[in-house]
Amino acid sequence: MSILKIGLFGFGCVGTGLYQVLNQTNQLNARIHKIVAKNPHKTRSIQDVEILFDPDAILNDPEINVVVELINSSEEAYQLVKEALKRKKNVVTANKKLIAEHFAELIDLAKENRVSLLYEAAVAGSIPIIRNLEEYYNNDTLSRIEGIVNGTTNYILTQANNGISYEDALQDAQEKGFAEADPTLDVDGFDAKFKLVLLLKHAFGLTIKPERLLNIGIRNLKLKDVQFANEKGWRIKLFAKAIKRDNGLIAFVAPQLITKDHSSFHVDDEFNAVLVQAAFADKQLFYGKGAGSFPTASAVLSDISALQYNYQYEYRKSASNILELEDDFSLKVYIGSENASSLYDIDFEEIDDIFIGKNYSYRIGNVKFQTIKNIDWNKRSDMSLLLLPEELIEQKSLKSGYNELNINQN
Ligand code: HSE
Repeated sequence: MSILKIGLFGFGCVGTGLYQVLNQTNQLNARIHKIVAKNPHKTRSIQDVEILFDPDAILNDPEINVVVELINSSEEAYQLVKEALKRKKNVVTANKKLIAEHFAELIDLAKENRVSLLYEAAVAGSIPIIRNLEEYYNNDTLSRIEGIVNGTTNYILTQANNGISYEDALQDAQEKGFAEADPTLDVDGFDAKFKLVLLLKHAFGLTIKPERLLNIGIRNLKLKDVQFANEKGWRIKLFAKAIKRDNGLIAFVAPQLITKDHSSFHVDDEFNAVLVQAAFADKQLFYGKGAGSFPTASAVLSDISALQYNYQYEYRKSASNILELEDDFSLKVYIGSENASSLYDIDFEEIDDIFIGKNYSYRIGNVKFQTIKNIDWNKRSDMSLLLLPEELIEQKSLKSGYNELNINQN
Protein backbone atom coordinates (compact mmCIF):
# COMPACT_ATOMS: atom_id res chain seq x y z
CA MET A 1 0.00 0.00 0.00
CA SER A 2 1.44 3.40 -0.88
CA ILE A 3 0.19 6.11 1.44
CA LEU A 4 -2.11 5.30 4.33
CA LYS A 5 -4.89 7.84 4.62
CA ILE A 6 -6.52 7.37 7.98
CA GLY A 7 -10.08 8.11 8.99
CA LEU A 8 -10.05 8.19 12.78
CA PHE A 9 -13.23 7.49 14.75
CA GLY A 10 -12.89 8.69 18.35
CA PHE A 11 -10.72 11.45 19.75
CA GLY A 12 -10.62 10.52 23.43
CA CYS A 13 -7.83 8.99 25.49
CA VAL A 14 -6.40 6.62 22.86
CA GLY A 15 -7.41 8.72 19.81
CA THR A 16 -5.50 11.79 21.01
CA GLY A 17 -2.62 9.49 21.99
CA LEU A 18 -2.49 8.12 18.46
CA TYR A 19 -2.59 11.63 17.02
CA GLN A 20 0.47 12.59 19.09
CA VAL A 21 2.31 9.34 18.44
CA LEU A 22 1.76 9.65 14.68
CA ASN A 23 3.07 13.22 14.76
CA GLN A 24 6.30 11.93 16.25
CA THR A 25 6.71 9.09 13.76
CA ASN A 26 8.39 10.36 10.62
CA GLN A 27 9.16 7.13 8.82
CA LEU A 28 5.60 5.89 8.57
CA ASN A 29 3.89 6.82 5.35
CA ALA A 30 0.59 7.48 7.08
CA ARG A 31 -1.42 10.51 8.06
CA ILE A 32 -4.73 11.24 9.67
CA HIS A 33 -6.99 12.55 6.93
CA LYS A 34 -10.17 13.05 8.96
CA ILE A 35 -11.26 12.72 12.56
CA VAL A 36 -14.87 12.01 13.48
CA ALA A 37 -16.03 12.16 17.09
CA LYS A 38 -19.47 11.86 18.67
CA ASN A 39 -19.82 14.70 21.12
CA PRO A 40 -19.38 18.28 19.82
CA HIS A 41 -19.55 19.64 23.37
CA LYS A 42 -16.76 17.58 24.90
CA THR A 43 -13.59 19.41 25.93
CA ARG A 44 -10.64 17.64 24.35
CA SER A 45 -7.00 17.55 25.40
CA ILE A 46 -5.94 18.59 21.87
CA GLN A 47 -7.76 21.69 20.59
CA ASP A 48 -6.22 22.88 17.33
CA VAL A 49 -7.51 20.00 15.20
CA GLU A 50 -10.56 19.86 12.96
CA ILE A 51 -13.08 17.37 14.32
CA LEU A 52 -16.12 16.31 12.31
CA PHE A 53 -19.26 14.72 13.69
CA ASP A 54 -20.75 12.85 10.74
CA PRO A 55 -19.46 9.26 10.32
CA ASP A 56 -20.17 9.45 6.57
CA ALA A 57 -17.40 12.03 6.29
CA ILE A 58 -15.04 9.08 6.72
CA LEU A 59 -17.12 6.20 5.37
CA ASN A 60 -17.95 7.99 2.10
CA ASP A 61 -14.48 9.37 1.51
CA PRO A 62 -12.90 7.26 -1.25
CA GLU A 63 -9.42 8.54 -0.40
CA ILE A 64 -9.49 7.03 3.08
CA ASN A 65 -8.05 3.51 2.95
CA VAL A 66 -7.66 2.89 6.69
CA VAL A 67 -10.33 3.33 9.33
CA VAL A 68 -9.02 3.46 12.88
CA GLU A 69 -11.84 2.86 15.34
CA LEU A 70 -11.22 4.09 18.90
CA ILE A 71 -14.66 4.92 20.27
CA ASN A 72 -16.22 3.78 23.55
CA SER A 73 -19.44 2.17 22.45
CA SER A 74 -18.97 -1.31 20.99
CA GLU A 75 -22.47 -1.22 19.45
CA GLU A 76 -21.71 1.94 17.49
CA ALA A 77 -18.25 0.62 16.69
CA TYR A 78 -19.88 -2.51 15.24
CA GLN A 79 -21.92 -0.47 12.75
CA LEU A 80 -18.94 1.70 11.79
CA VAL A 81 -16.52 -1.19 11.38
CA LYS A 82 -19.02 -3.23 9.36
CA GLU A 83 -19.62 -0.30 7.03
CA ALA A 84 -15.92 0.42 6.68
CA LEU A 85 -15.13 -3.20 5.78
CA LYS A 86 -18.01 -3.32 3.27
CA ARG A 87 -16.53 -0.22 1.65
CA LYS A 88 -13.21 -2.03 1.35
CA LYS A 89 -11.37 0.02 3.91
CA ASN A 90 -8.81 -1.63 6.18
CA VAL A 91 -9.76 -1.43 9.82
CA VAL A 92 -7.63 -1.09 12.93
CA THR A 93 -9.47 -1.20 16.24
CA ALA A 94 -8.69 -1.44 19.96
CA ASN A 95 -12.20 -2.63 20.78
CA LYS A 96 -12.04 -6.09 22.35
CA LYS A 97 -15.79 -6.27 23.09
CA LEU A 98 -16.59 -5.55 19.46
CA ILE A 99 -14.24 -8.23 18.17
CA ALA A 100 -15.14 -10.84 20.80
CA GLU A 101 -18.89 -10.45 20.19
CA HIS A 102 -18.79 -10.40 16.38
CA PHE A 103 -15.63 -12.34 15.66
CA ALA A 104 -16.75 -14.72 12.91
CA GLU A 105 -18.86 -12.13 11.09
CA LEU A 106 -16.13 -9.48 11.06
CA ILE A 107 -13.43 -11.92 9.96
CA ASP A 108 -15.67 -13.05 7.09
CA LEU A 109 -16.47 -9.49 6.09
CA ALA A 110 -12.79 -8.54 5.97
CA LYS A 111 -12.03 -11.63 3.93
CA GLU A 112 -14.88 -11.07 1.46
CA ASN A 113 -13.78 -7.51 0.90
CA ARG A 114 -10.08 -8.39 0.79
CA VAL A 115 -9.07 -5.93 3.45
CA SER A 116 -7.31 -6.23 6.79
CA LEU A 117 -8.94 -6.17 10.20
CA LEU A 118 -6.24 -5.72 12.86
CA TYR A 119 -6.67 -5.38 16.63
CA GLU A 120 -3.34 -5.77 18.43
CA ALA A 121 -4.26 -2.95 20.82
CA ALA A 122 -7.38 -4.82 21.93
CA VAL A 123 -5.41 -7.25 24.11
CA ALA A 124 -2.91 -6.21 26.78
CA GLY A 125 -2.32 -2.70 25.42
CA SER A 126 1.26 -2.27 24.31
CA ILE A 127 2.19 -5.98 24.46
CA PRO A 128 2.42 -7.51 20.97
CA ILE A 129 0.71 -10.74 21.98
CA ILE A 130 -1.77 -11.26 19.13
CA ARG A 131 0.82 -11.13 16.39
CA ASN A 132 3.18 -13.35 18.36
CA LEU A 133 0.52 -15.99 18.93
CA GLU A 134 -0.56 -15.75 15.31
CA GLU A 135 2.89 -15.95 13.77
CA TYR A 136 5.26 -17.59 16.16
CA TYR A 137 3.63 -20.37 18.15
CA ASN A 138 2.26 -23.54 16.64
CA ASN A 139 -1.08 -24.73 17.84
CA ASP A 140 0.11 -28.15 18.95
CA THR A 141 3.01 -26.93 21.05
CA LEU A 142 1.09 -24.39 23.12
CA SER A 143 -0.16 -25.68 26.45
CA ARG A 144 -1.10 -22.62 28.47
CA ILE A 145 -1.83 -18.92 28.25
CA GLU A 146 -2.23 -17.02 31.48
CA GLY A 147 -2.63 -13.29 31.31
CA ILE A 148 -3.03 -10.31 33.55
CA VAL A 149 -4.82 -8.49 30.75
CA ASN A 150 -6.79 -5.81 32.54
CA GLY A 151 -4.87 -2.76 33.71
CA THR A 152 -7.68 -1.27 35.79
CA THR A 153 -8.16 -4.30 38.05
CA ASN A 154 -4.43 -4.81 38.37
CA TYR A 155 -4.14 -1.18 39.40
CA ILE A 156 -6.91 -1.59 42.01
CA LEU A 157 -5.35 -4.79 43.39
CA THR A 158 -1.93 -3.16 43.61
CA GLN A 159 -3.35 -0.12 45.38
CA ALA A 160 -5.21 -2.41 47.81
CA ASN A 161 -1.81 -3.64 48.98
CA ASN A 162 -0.90 -0.02 49.69
CA GLY A 163 -4.04 0.38 51.81
CA ILE A 164 -5.99 2.36 49.16
CA SER A 165 -9.70 1.55 49.07
CA TYR A 166 -11.37 -0.09 46.08
CA GLU A 167 -13.46 3.04 45.35
CA ASP A 168 -10.49 5.43 45.49
CA ALA A 169 -8.30 3.17 43.35
CA LEU A 170 -11.06 2.74 40.76
CA GLN A 171 -11.60 6.47 40.56
CA ASP A 172 -7.87 6.98 40.13
CA ALA A 173 -7.79 4.36 37.35
CA GLN A 174 -10.67 6.17 35.63
CA GLU A 175 -8.89 9.52 35.86
CA LYS A 176 -5.73 7.99 34.43
CA GLY A 177 -7.71 6.72 31.43
CA PHE A 178 -7.27 3.00 32.18
CA ALA A 179 -10.89 2.07 32.90
CA GLU A 180 -13.64 1.36 30.39
CA ALA A 181 -16.44 3.94 30.06
CA ASP A 182 -18.48 1.40 32.00
CA PRO A 183 -16.00 0.17 34.65
CA THR A 184 -18.24 -2.83 35.42
CA LEU A 185 -16.60 -4.36 32.37
CA ASP A 186 -13.23 -4.09 34.11
CA VAL A 187 -14.07 -5.00 37.69
CA ASP A 188 -16.37 -7.91 36.87
CA GLY A 189 -13.85 -9.49 34.52
CA PHE A 190 -15.77 -8.94 31.27
CA ASP A 191 -12.99 -6.95 29.65
CA ALA A 192 -10.50 -9.71 30.51
CA LYS A 193 -12.94 -12.27 29.11
CA PHE A 194 -13.28 -10.45 25.79
CA LYS A 195 -9.50 -10.40 25.59
CA LEU A 196 -9.41 -14.12 26.40
CA VAL A 197 -11.75 -14.78 23.45
CA LEU A 198 -9.19 -13.09 21.18
CA LEU A 199 -6.32 -14.98 22.77
CA LEU A 200 -8.11 -18.33 22.31
CA LYS A 201 -8.59 -17.60 18.62
CA HIS A 202 -4.99 -16.69 17.95
CA ALA A 203 -3.39 -19.21 20.30
CA PHE A 204 -5.54 -22.26 19.59
CA GLY A 205 -7.79 -21.41 16.64
CA LEU A 206 -10.88 -21.67 18.79
CA THR A 207 -13.83 -19.31 18.17
CA ILE A 208 -15.80 -19.01 21.40
CA LYS A 209 -18.74 -16.77 22.13
CA PRO A 210 -17.95 -14.71 25.26
CA GLU A 211 -21.15 -15.94 26.98
CA ARG A 212 -19.63 -19.41 27.15
CA LEU A 213 -16.73 -18.32 29.33
CA LEU A 214 -16.94 -17.78 33.07
CA ASN A 215 -15.71 -14.42 34.32
CA ILE A 216 -15.30 -13.75 38.01
CA GLY A 217 -14.05 -10.27 38.79
CA ILE A 218 -12.69 -8.48 41.83
CA ARG A 219 -15.71 -6.39 42.87
CA ASN A 220 -16.50 -8.55 45.91
CA LEU A 221 -13.02 -8.86 47.32
CA LYS A 222 -12.84 -7.54 50.85
CA LEU A 223 -9.97 -6.05 52.82
CA LYS A 224 -9.89 -9.33 54.79
CA ASP A 225 -9.20 -11.27 51.60
CA VAL A 226 -6.28 -8.97 50.79
CA GLN A 227 -5.02 -9.34 54.34
CA PHE A 228 -5.27 -13.13 54.03
CA ALA A 229 -3.02 -12.94 50.95
CA ASN A 230 -0.58 -10.54 52.61
CA GLU A 231 -0.22 -12.65 55.74
CA LYS A 232 0.90 -15.54 53.59
CA GLY A 233 3.23 -13.33 51.53
CA TRP A 234 1.02 -13.88 48.48
CA ARG A 235 -0.61 -11.49 45.99
CA ILE A 236 -4.02 -11.47 44.31
CA LYS A 237 -4.06 -11.14 40.50
CA LEU A 238 -6.93 -11.35 38.04
CA PHE A 239 -6.07 -13.90 35.36
CA ALA A 240 -7.53 -14.83 32.01
CA LYS A 241 -6.48 -18.44 31.62
CA ALA A 242 -6.45 -21.09 28.94
CA ILE A 243 -5.02 -24.50 29.74
CA LYS A 244 -4.86 -27.33 27.23
CA ARG A 245 -5.62 -30.88 28.40
CA ASP A 246 -5.59 -33.55 25.64
CA ASN A 247 -8.28 -32.35 23.24
CA GLY A 248 -9.92 -30.16 25.83
CA LEU A 249 -9.34 -26.57 26.73
CA ILE A 250 -10.00 -25.04 30.12
CA ALA A 251 -10.67 -21.32 29.87
CA PHE A 252 -12.02 -18.76 32.34
CA VAL A 253 -11.31 -15.47 34.10
CA ALA A 254 -10.88 -15.43 37.89
CA PRO A 255 -8.80 -13.83 40.62
CA GLN A 256 -6.00 -15.97 42.00
CA LEU A 257 -3.60 -16.01 44.91
CA ILE A 258 -0.02 -16.31 43.70
CA THR A 259 3.22 -16.94 45.52
CA LYS A 260 6.47 -14.95 45.32
CA ASP A 261 7.97 -17.31 42.76
CA HIS A 262 5.15 -16.74 40.25
CA SER A 263 6.39 -14.79 37.24
CA SER A 264 3.55 -12.25 37.58
CA PHE A 265 4.14 -11.53 41.28
CA HIS A 266 5.72 -8.16 40.53
CA VAL A 267 3.37 -7.17 37.72
CA ASP A 268 1.83 -4.09 39.31
CA ASP A 269 -0.43 -1.13 38.56
CA GLU A 270 -1.59 -0.85 34.95
CA PHE A 271 1.07 -3.26 33.73
CA ASN A 272 -0.08 -6.45 32.05
CA ALA A 273 1.74 -9.73 31.57
CA VAL A 274 0.91 -12.73 29.44
CA LEU A 275 2.56 -16.01 30.27
CA VAL A 276 2.78 -18.37 27.32
CA GLN A 277 3.76 -21.96 27.94
CA ALA A 278 4.84 -24.10 25.04
CA ALA A 279 6.53 -27.45 24.59
CA PHE A 280 10.32 -27.09 24.25
CA ALA A 281 10.32 -23.31 24.82
CA ASP A 282 8.69 -23.75 28.26
CA LYS A 283 7.43 -20.55 29.89
CA GLN A 284 7.76 -17.11 28.34
CA LEU A 285 6.44 -13.90 29.83
CA PHE A 286 5.33 -10.90 27.79
CA TYR A 287 5.27 -7.82 29.98
CA GLY A 288 4.31 -4.19 29.39
CA LYS A 289 1.78 -1.45 29.96
CA GLY A 290 -1.72 -2.74 29.37
CA ALA A 291 -3.76 0.44 29.44
CA GLY A 292 -3.46 4.18 28.96
CA SER A 293 -3.23 6.58 26.08
CA PHE A 294 0.29 6.11 24.68
CA PRO A 295 0.78 2.39 25.41
CA THR A 296 -2.49 1.56 23.63
CA ALA A 297 -1.75 4.02 20.83
CA SER A 298 1.63 2.33 20.31
CA ALA A 299 -0.12 -0.96 19.47
CA VAL A 300 -2.53 0.84 17.12
CA LEU A 301 0.46 2.45 15.46
CA SER A 302 2.06 -0.95 14.99
CA ASP A 303 -1.06 -2.23 13.21
CA ILE A 304 -1.14 0.85 10.98
CA SER A 305 2.49 0.26 10.20
CA ALA A 306 1.79 -3.41 9.34
CA LEU A 307 -0.77 -2.24 6.79
CA GLN A 308 2.09 -0.75 4.79
CA TYR A 309 2.90 -4.30 3.75
CA ASN A 310 -0.76 -5.40 3.62
CA TYR A 311 -0.50 -7.54 6.73
CA GLN A 312 -3.55 -9.69 7.53
CA TYR A 313 -4.20 -12.33 10.19
CA GLU A 314 -4.51 -15.68 8.45
CA TYR A 315 -6.21 -17.65 11.24
CA ARG A 316 -4.37 -20.78 10.12
CA LYS A 317 -4.96 -22.51 13.46
CA SER A 318 -8.74 -22.33 13.04
CA ALA A 319 -8.62 -24.76 10.11
CA SER A 320 -7.00 -27.49 12.19
CA ASN A 321 -8.58 -26.84 15.58
CA ILE A 322 -9.91 -29.92 17.34
CA LEU A 323 -10.16 -28.46 20.83
CA GLU A 324 -13.40 -28.22 22.76
CA LEU A 325 -14.09 -26.20 25.88
CA GLU A 326 -13.95 -28.48 28.89
CA ASP A 327 -15.71 -28.11 32.22
CA ASP A 328 -15.12 -31.46 33.92
CA PHE A 329 -12.38 -30.53 36.34
CA SER A 330 -11.99 -29.18 39.86
CA LEU A 331 -10.29 -26.13 41.26
CA LYS A 332 -8.60 -25.47 44.57
CA VAL A 333 -10.32 -22.34 45.88
CA TYR A 334 -10.58 -20.00 48.81
CA ILE A 335 -14.07 -18.70 49.48
CA GLY A 336 -14.33 -15.88 51.98
CA SER A 337 -17.33 -14.16 53.51
CA GLU A 338 -18.33 -11.80 56.28
CA ASN A 339 -21.21 -14.16 56.86
CA ALA A 340 -20.09 -17.72 57.65
CA SER A 341 -23.43 -19.25 56.62
CA SER A 342 -22.90 -18.10 53.00
CA LEU A 343 -19.94 -20.45 52.76
CA TYR A 344 -22.28 -23.42 53.07
CA ASP A 345 -23.95 -22.50 49.75
CA ILE A 346 -20.95 -24.00 48.00
CA ASP A 347 -20.43 -27.75 47.71
CA PHE A 348 -16.82 -28.62 48.36
CA GLU A 349 -15.52 -32.01 47.17
CA GLU A 350 -12.77 -31.82 49.73
CA ILE A 351 -11.97 -29.25 52.42
CA ASP A 352 -8.40 -28.36 53.40
CA ASP A 353 -8.98 -25.51 55.82
CA ILE A 354 -11.80 -23.68 57.54
CA PHE A 355 -11.68 -20.46 59.51
CA ILE A 356 -14.75 -19.17 61.30
CA GLY A 357 -14.44 -15.70 62.79
CA LYS A 358 -16.99 -13.22 64.10
CA ASN A 359 -16.79 -10.86 61.13
CA TYR A 360 -15.05 -12.95 58.57
CA SER A 361 -14.75 -16.61 57.63
CA TYR A 362 -13.36 -18.72 54.84
CA ARG A 363 -13.18 -22.24 53.50
CA ILE A 364 -10.42 -23.61 51.33
CA GLY A 365 -10.71 -26.78 49.30
CA ASN A 366 -11.64 -28.44 46.03
CA VAL A 367 -14.76 -27.40 44.16
CA LYS A 368 -16.00 -28.71 40.83
CA PHE A 369 -15.81 -26.15 38.07
CA GLN A 370 -19.44 -26.91 37.16
CA THR A 371 -20.43 -25.85 40.69
CA ILE A 372 -18.45 -22.62 40.40
CA LYS A 373 -19.83 -21.93 36.93
CA ASN A 374 -23.42 -22.13 38.12
CA ILE A 375 -23.03 -19.18 40.48
CA ASP A 376 -23.12 -15.56 39.37
CA TRP A 377 -20.15 -14.52 41.49
CA ASN A 378 -20.21 -10.90 40.39
CA LYS A 379 -23.67 -10.59 41.95
CA ARG A 380 -22.81 -12.45 45.18
CA SER A 381 -21.55 -9.49 47.18
CA ASP A 382 -21.58 -11.74 50.27
CA MET A 383 -18.79 -14.01 48.99
CA SER A 384 -15.43 -13.72 47.35
CA LEU A 385 -13.69 -16.46 45.38
CA LEU A 386 -9.96 -16.76 44.86
CA LEU A 387 -8.10 -19.58 43.17
CA LEU A 388 -5.31 -21.01 45.28
CA PRO A 389 -1.80 -21.07 43.80
CA GLU A 390 -2.16 -24.77 42.94
CA GLU A 391 -5.43 -23.97 41.03
CA LEU A 392 -6.22 -27.12 39.03
CA ILE A 393 -6.88 -30.42 40.78
CA GLU A 394 -5.62 -33.09 38.43
CA GLN A 395 -6.43 -36.09 40.60
CA LYS A 396 -10.04 -35.87 41.62
CA SER A 397 -10.49 -37.20 45.12
CA LEU A 398 -13.77 -38.48 46.48
CA LYS A 399 -12.54 -38.12 50.03
CA SER A 400 -14.46 -35.65 52.09
CA GLY A 401 -13.33 -34.00 55.26
CA TYR A 402 -10.83 -31.44 56.38
CA ASN A 403 -7.33 -31.49 57.73
CA GLU A 404 -7.32 -28.47 59.88
CA LEU A 405 -9.94 -26.52 61.77
CA ASN A 406 -9.36 -23.05 63.07
CA ILE A 407 -11.97 -21.43 65.23
CA ASN A 408 -11.38 -17.83 66.07
CA GLN A 409 -14.01 -15.66 67.58
CA ASN A 410 -12.08 -12.36 67.50
N1 HSE B 1 -9.97 -0.94 30.55
C1 HSE B 1 -8.91 -1.64 29.94
C2 HSE B 1 -7.92 -2.07 31.03
C3 HSE B 1 -8.24 -0.79 28.92
O1 HSE B 1 -8.02 -1.56 32.13
O2 HSE B 1 -7.07 -2.91 30.76
C4 HSE B 1 -7.23 -1.50 28.07
O3 HSE B 1 -7.82 -2.52 27.32
